[in-house]
Amino acid sequence: MIASRRQFLCGGGAALLPLLVADTALAKPAPPNKWAALRGRFSFLPGLTYLNSGSEGSLPTALRARLSHLVTEWSASPSWACFSSPNLEQSQTQNRRRLAEFVSAPPADVVITDNTTMGLAMVVLGLPFTAGDEVIITDHEHYALTSPLKVASLRSGIVVKQVAIPSPATSAAQILDVFTAALTPRTRAICFSHVNWTTGLRMPVEAICALGRQHNVPTLVDGAHGLGMIDLNLPALGCDFYACAGHKWLNGPPATGLLYIRDAVTNPWKLVPIVSEVAEYLGPKFSIADALQMRGSPNGPGFAILAAMCDFYDEIGKSAVESRILSLAATVKARAAATWGEACVYSPSPAVMDLSSGLSAFVPSRDPTAAYDADFVPKLAETLINKHKIWVRATSFPSPPGAPAPRINTLRVSTNIFNNTADIDRLFAALTHEVG
Ligand SMILES: Cc1ncc(COP(=O)(O)O)c(C=O)c1O
Repeated sequence: MIASRRQFLCGGGAALLPLLVADTALAKPAPPNKWAALRGRFSFLPGLTYLNSGSEGSLPTALRARLSHLVTEWSASPSWACFSSPNLEQSQTQNRRRLAEFVSAPPADVVITDNTTMGLAMVVLGLPFTAGDEVIITDHEHYALTSPLKVASLRSGIVVKQVAIPSPATSAAQILDVFTAALTPRTRAICFSHVNWTTGLRMPVEAICALGRQHNVPTLVDGAHGLGMIDLNLPALGCDFYACAGHKWLNGPPATGLLYIRDAVTNPWKLVPIVSEVAEYLGPKFSIADALQMRGSPNGPGFAILAAMCDFYDEIGKSAVESRILSLAATVKARAAATWGEACVYSPSPAVMDLSSGLSAFVPSRDPTAAYDADFVPKLAETLINKHKIWVRATSFPSPPGAPAPRINTLRVSTNIFNNTADIDRLFAALTHEVG
């Protein structure tokens, strides 16, 4: 049974740890290499091993101070901040430009949002669906996508067709075939994740979007785990819409995200702005992206810091970030396979690079039925947090036909730029201590 909304959406159940970290805890000896130096720029609670960026990232210490400075600036002259400050003002022109550059998109095609959920809802509820329209999704989608689709099905009578993705998937072609088979003349949208939150499968986005274009069907990508993990060039992916988070892998502040709308000025899919102050003026004066940006008082300080995180990542190099994250994740998968056998890993093999991501999903047991036990992994995740101060989470996804239970339950480990192999050693030491 779901104990709380938090447990349902976020996993775990621990009452965890004080929020504030004493700044003295940040004093560290000179770091031996670039990644160690980078880790020193974050301020986690001493003793905490944080392996859950898939839920939320951590703001670097210097940016935390700058955020506080911007809140002070806002408070000092609020109306100036809201209407005139280049960083904080409502249309967010300057920060949109910086974020657009980071994902290689035209600034006019970018909206700064509060999170992935907001971006997905803006698209699903803003598209002009009519009764009987079909929308293809997979059986690994997050509630942030299935929830607005439910509203659209109740309100407009759309039919949501859920296709099954194998776990672990072994090739891009295998996944593409599933989408191709689901297309019909009534298909009006294809919605799927860039990286599945369940197993960490990185979907073949370019191929699925090309399929959509071939059939004149728009594609919406849930990119919650894209921004900050993957070296993104959004126009090159070929999608029509991409909704993502600033607060996860990019380590931006809470309540920050991004929505990309291809060709927002011409708005080919006739999206309407479901949250806006200027919907009456949609057209030459305000594009759909402008209208969705103008939605009342903005999180100016948070958005300015999100834009500053682009500088932080560019300084490291987006491609170096992706390689580092993938390499740590490959270590996690290899350690799990070496400890409990290859069958315990539900993420694609790291050898299949184009399907791999920074999320690793496995069941720490040699018993093949442990995955079907709805308590085993969630309880283990809680023990890791409460007893070992290691944050990971439990996820689950539908079992294949004929399995002993409807869902497979796995432990999900996120390896971000501040993690290292010592974190992975701690995790596996704790797991072997708990389960052998
Ligand atoms: C695949 C996926 N989509 C959407 C979300 C919701 O993200 P946000 O908190 O940015 O709205 C999550 C959250 O973990 C996710 O994993």
